[in-house]
Amino acid sequence: MSKVLYIKANPKPDSESNTFKLSNEFIEEYKKQNPNDEIIILDLYKENIRPLDNEMVTNMFSGVKDEVYHQAELFASVDKYVFAAPMWNLSIPAILKAYFDYVSYVGIAFKYTEQGAVGLLADKGKKAVHIVSRGGAYSEGPSASYEMGDRYVKTILGFFGIYDVKTLALELTNVLQDEEFEKAANRSYEEARRMAREF
Ligand SMILES: Cc1cc2nc3c(=O)[nH]c(=O)nc-3n(C[C@H](O)[C@H](O)[C@H](O)COP(=O)(O)O)c2cc1C
Repeated sequence: MSKVLYIKANPKPDSESNTFKLSNEFIEEYKKQNPNDEIIILDLYKENIRPLDNEMVTNMFSGVKDEVYHQAELFASVDKYVFAAPMWNLSIPAILKAYFDYVSYVGIAFKYTEQGAVGLLADKGKKAVHIVSRGGAYSEGPSASYEMGDRYVKTILGFFGIYDVKTLALELTNVLQDEEFEKAANRSYEEARRMAREF
């Protein structure tokens, strides 16, 4: 039995979010395939995730087990991660960056050695999927180099030792209209179900 952390980073309700419609499609198919797995939903807006302040940073280095520590512990304890976040300003929403600041916890996610930082979540078969919707198109072509959200998610997870990270993107949500949009959305839902069966 695996533990899956479903990390939701969007203030919109599910019914109004392109991202959550896609990630819910993935989660529902995953549940069908893995009825005994535990799925923990972490809605970052409900968790009151916020930028690290001085007290939180001080706690991190003095062994105080505050809410940041508990988020980091939960993050390290699961087998699989589903990140659902829209593209915001070429990257991830700030609340997801703030969450990564919580879980990038020295001694839990990584440690310093004489050779540099080493991920502590490696060799545990952990895997992740980053589910994103974007107003424009960044997966290929000249705009690809502007994309910094998926790149960041993959890089920071790799820093922790999590290398099996896939991307599921619905693009051009602000460009496509009516039937064209429906077609693209349906294609992405199909891809979501396919990826969920292999996750
Ligand atoms: C604050 C904000 C910033 C955005 N920045 C970008 C951007 O840089 N590039 C882009 O293609 N779309 C951008 N968008 C559009 C969203 O990525 C797009 O509409 C997406 O489908 C929204 O997903 P949602 O319905 O789950 O919120 C932005 C939207 C918002 C609200």
